Amino acid sequence: MGGAGAETVTKLVGDAPVVFAQFAEQWQKLLDDRSKISAAVKELLRYEAPSQYHVRCWTKDVELHGVTIPTIKPVFLINAAANRDPDAWTDPDNFDVDRDRHEALNLSLGYGIHGCLGAALARMESTIALEKLLDCMPRYQVDWENYNRVHMQNVAGRKNVPVAALRGMSTSTGNSAKATGCAWESSRRHLSSATTTC
Ligand code: HEM
Repeated sequence: MGGAGAETVTKLVGDAPVVFAQFAEQWQKLLDDRSKISAAVKELLRYEAPSQYHVRCWTKDVELHGVTIPTIKPVFLINAAANRDPDAWTDPDNFDVDRDRHEALNLSLGYGIHGCLGAALARMESTIALEKLLDCMPRYQVDWENYNRVHMQNVAGRKNVPVAALRGMSTSTGNSAKATGCAWESSRRHLSSATTTC
């Protein structure tokens, strides 16, 4: 259980600065309105699923798309691909914290009786982490030359994400690293999947 929660949440938190750097207007939305953080965590889970697949065994023959999957055969369900399925989601490769989350099923935390037991905890931890990142680095740059993905069989995400927290106000609400008492202002830090503290 510890492994399930530790690997996955840290990967999601490490993904956050990368994705928000690629979609800077979405970061600004959170800076302007922190009530969007919960939706942002769900969108991050959809867009960058730390757990990319599930395996199931069929209990009866099932026909899908003209192919019969026989009873007992194991099936590799790639939830990360389903979360970007254009037949299910509008503009799925766009990261949008305001998207209609009810349009399809976000499979990143599984589903059914074996859905993620730690889902609520995972969302809460990720929400707190995003709050901290918004406090500590309202403006930042990713060092794209030196960030790395993990090469793991069971989870996907970033291993380390070097960022430079930039000086200055960046939000319409006047929130800044200094105003929130964070010691990170204008300093360089490595956000890794193991060290996301401030
Ligand atoms: C972003 C964080 C997380 C993600 C993406 C995630 C993802 C998943 C997924 C996709 C499954 C279903 C696997 C399957 O159906 O084969 C699952 C199951 C599970 N997760 Fe998580 N998880 C996360 C965090 C956590 C945390 C924080 C805990 C506990 C501290 C946890 C504990 C479990 C357990 C015990 C199961 C097995 C449930 C069962 O088989 O009945 N997970 N998780």
